[in-house]
Amino acid sequence: MVAITRVKESVYTPAEKAPEPNLGSEIIPKERYISKDFMQLEWDRMWTKVWLIGCREQEIPETGDYLTTEIGNESLLIVRGEDGKARTFYNVCNHRGNQVKFDECGNSRTLQCAYHFWEYDLTGKLISVPDEQDFTQGCPKDQLSLKAVKTDTWGGFVWFNLNPDAEPLMDYLGMVPQHLNPYHFENMAMVMNVTVDWDCNWKTSVDAFNEVYHVQCIHPELSYTIDDVDIQIDLYERHNRYLVPFKTYSPRLGEDLQEVPEGLADELRAIGMNPDEFHGRVPEIRRAVQEYKRANAETIGIDYSEFNDDQLSDDYHYFIFPNITMNVMAESMMMFRQRPHETDPNKMYYDVTMYVTVPKTGKAIAANFMGDAGPPLPDHEHVKHGERSLGLVLDQDSVNLPHVQKGMNSSAYKGLWISGQERRIRHMHKTLMDYINGEYANDA
Ligand code: FES
Repeated sequence: MVAITRVKESVYTPAEKAPEPNLGSEIIPKERYISKDFMQLEWDRMWTKVWLIGCREQEIPETGDYLTTEIGNESLLIVRGEDGKARTFYNVCNHRGNQVKFDECGNSRTLQCAYHFWEYDLTGKLISVPDEQDFTQGCPKDQLSLKAVKTDTWGGFVWFNLNPDAEPLMDYLGMVPQHLNPYHFENMAMVMNVTVDWDCNWKTSVDAFNEVYHVQCIHPELSYTIDDVDIQIDLYERHNRYLVPFKTYSPRLGEDLQEVPEGLADELRAIGMNPDEFHGRVPEIRRAVQEYKRANAETIGIDYSEFNDDQLSDDYHYFIFPNITMNVMAESMMMFRQRPHETDPNKMYYDVTMYVTVPKTGKAIAANFMGDAGPPLPDHEHVKHGERSLGLVLDQDSVNLPHVQKGMNSSAYKGLWISGQERRIRHMHKTLMDYINGEYANDA
């Protein structure tokens, strides 16, 4: 990696290698991916104990804006209150159990159930019951108001935790805010929002993005734009990351390229560099990109002052346990969120969202930039696997996953045989098992 230049020493993403924990080398049992009993354990001991992303703050900007989201069997209703706070409630009316809101999002000054018109205010308090005198047992507001869920915000996201006694969000996130605050996700605009039904366990999908071992096999094009060998892997307490050099090429190609490969040339053009005017050696392109962005920050309209040089070219790729993957670049972030199916360990929901920094001046790096006010909020698309392309690389990723899940159900298969370059998967399983029967298992 090139030498690091930091403009502001006080705010930066640490690039130092974290100490390596000893995670052993045992096989990871396949039952964690296919067993309904394990799925239930995950729900009881993990999903109901961890902080999860509910939505983007940008999706509920105004008083009365609401959004519904699902995790497992639960539907959650996230609402912007009159005090500007985002609150999360179980989306269930305490009369006869109707869902308070069926639609994905909307705005209303009160939350009125569509069945018998019980009405709740934006803090979830029951405020109106038609024919209330007919309930001989009374309608005690403290029992019948919407059940609130612990809620907080970070990075422009609304997070919730189904555990009423959960630790604060910032404690849960650990090192993540310090590492990622320089990117200012809160100022990024969402430009893509797609959910795909996949026929695999949620972890099968998480695993696919926690290693680059597969890149040489199913993403041959990436060999000409990224270095899939010199990857720094950092395993923290619950979360992990790898740092992937971009704007370069793979040492697996086994030669010093003499000409700028087309894929890399396209990437140079996308940021305003002319590959025909680059007269250095191809391995020097990554450094040239970093210098170009630093020198042209004003023209590009992006403030790079909180980034080290590598962040101007590379993917700082973070996994926030249990189900958030962030592909973090200097001007954008692509996020994957895996959610379990309600009942079937062989199915899941894969949420892909994309965020871009809206340049302050000059032209946009992001192709989706649509004017000074930033791009409009994209519609949420929900599709089945194969109904819509997610782009070449994600389409390539998705091909194997249903077949991995099928294979895992074979009596001939015992479990995951993990290599060193796949150790983020092992780390994720360590954290998972810490919730199932380890150090987090007895948390309230
Ligand atoms: Fe909500 Fe009856 S179920 S008012």
